[in-house]
Amino acid sequence: MPLVTVKIAQTLDGRIATSTGQSQWISGDSSLKLAHELRRDHRAIMVGIGTVLTDDPRLTVRLVEGIDPLRIVVDSRLRIPLTARVLSEDRAANTIVATAESAGPARVDQIRRLGAEVLRLPLAADQTPRRGSATPTARVELNALFAELDRREVQSVLVEGGASLITSLLKQRLVDRLVVVIAPKIIGAGIEWAGNLGVRDLTEAITFSSFETRRSGEDLVFDGQIRK
Ligand SMILES: NC(=O)c1ccc[n+]([C@@H]2O[C@H](COP(=O)([O-])OP(=O)(O)OC[C@H]3O[C@@H](n4cnc5c(N)ncnc54)[C@H](OP(=O)(O)O)[C@@H]3O)[C@@H](O)[C@H]2O)c1
Repeated sequence: MPLVTVKIAQTLDGRIATSTGQSQWISGDSSLKLAHELRRDHRAIMVGIGTVLTDDPRLTVRLVEGIDPLRIVVDSRLRIPLTARVLSEDRAANTIVATAESAGPARVDQIRRLGAEVLRLPLAADQTPRRGSATPTARVELNALFAELDRREVQSVLVEGGASLITSLLKQRLVDRLVVVIAPKIIGAGIEWAGNLGVRDLTEAITFSSFETRRSGEDLVFDGQIRK
């Protein structure tokens, strides 16, 4: 399986976005540079479709020298807008949209015509219901996605959010390294980066085999290896 790093920028009170979903930019300039260094150092960057719909990121290396990694959007229902920046003319060829085996062929064709790859994968039950729904939902099976990336010799993946994708990865113990940029800001109600992990007893908490902390401009950086 590829090595999976999760990187997030959070406020001091643990939020990755305001209650309206705004997250750009929680961290300062030095930490943005750090984010681009991490992109440069991984073979692929992955985000959930929620992040594409909210932030429309380019997922390129810009603030440092380096080659753009492969871009992966996890999107079970192919909600990605055809105008998304990751599907623009100069980026689509290096973008994979990971979706359901049952994805509608017409929509798949539209995305493929832009130059991106649509990767059809099995779905797995996710206990986090979709907004407005009370029942568990079916989402891209992350183990199947990583197995396919491994087959393609993609050895490292940087996950940049958002909250639902990170929660799924943590719940399935698929994260190797966690980099948290902590900005000296408090925003109160907002979006937390980890949802329900099913931890009821502290002995079940996710812990670290090693970690370091450092400054990045005004921000603090926690960089740890998750204990497996
Ligand atoms: N501060 C930061 O570092 C940072 C970074 C990134 C994003 N953000 C913020 O985070 C927010 C977006 O977070 P989000 O939770 O709404 O969206 P998200 O995690 O980016 O995307 C979640 C969506 O991905 C799809 N998905 C497919 N397979 C999945 C799986 N196995 N597990 C989980 N999701 C899967 C699901 O939609 P389907 O069911 O339709 O497939 C799910 O709703 C935005 O406000 C953004 O600004 C902050």
